Amino acid sequence: MKIDVFTLFPEWFEWFAAQRHVANVLASGSRLELVNPRDHTPLSGRQVDDTPFGGGAGMVLRVDVLDAALRARYGIDPVQLRERRRVIALAPGGRMLDDELVDELAAEPELTLLCGRYEGFDERIVEHFAGDVISIGRYVLSGGELAAMVLCDAVLRKLPGALGHADSAAEESFSAALGGDPEYPHYTRPAEYRGWRVPEVLLSGHHEQIAAWRRERSRERGAGEDRGPAAS
Ligand SMILES: C[S@@+](CC[C@H](N)C(=O)[O-])C[C@H]1O[C@@H](n2cnc3c(N)ncnc32)[C@H](O)[C@@H]1O
Repeated sequence: MKIDVFTLFPEWFEWFAAQRHVANVLASGSRLELVNPRDHTPLSGRQVDDTPFGGGAGMVLRVDVLDAALRARYGIDPVQLRERRRVIALAPGGRMLDDELVDELAAEPELTLLCGRYEGFDERIVEHFAGDVISIGRYVLSGGELAAMVLCDAVLRKLPGALGHADSAAEESFSAALGGDPEYPHYTRPAEYRGWRVPEVLLSGHHEQIAAWRRERSRERGAGEDRGPAAS
């Protein structure tokens, strides 16, 4: 998997790339590379944005700047680029990122993520350069960097070598192994703490009963029957 992130703040990703599960995947041959549109802008003074036509607050990322940055990186017209690789604009109003979409993206050999800032993208970037618009939630972040990291984290942890234990990702929330339901609750030592006892079945050593109990708890959570943390 090769992921290119176009961002005005590439240094944000230094911490992210150093995290163990990300570093593991990168050491196994995947790549995460940062491109700063400021390094490729045809405008003077490293300008990348401008005031919106029609008025209003904020600055808008310019289409000619993204065109130049994408051309510099891939050597072709970005309009053709999206036919060859998945180019994703991150935006609050985009398609919601969920486990199904993460699986879809994890199967791609290459991804390009475009991070907006300030007021966001000139709409022609979204219309002509991006093949997808993805949101990580119905709220507004200051920029696409955290959204890109969320997407990368969710995608990269699906790849071989990311997690220490191969089974960790096989049976977790929303996986096929759990029928798309959230994961069941986990407990560890001590078996009793402040009078709060771990469910007996988990201490029984009876694998079939444990599996059945876990499946049932997952189903309850999927059906919204789990009431969540108890009020204290
Ligand atoms: C301040 S936001 C722009 C918000 C835009 N003016 C609006 O109201 O939709 C700047 C950039 O952050 C990113 N962003 C913010 N919230 C996001 C979200 N929930 N999901 C994905 N990207 C987001 C996008 O790349 C966006 O262009």
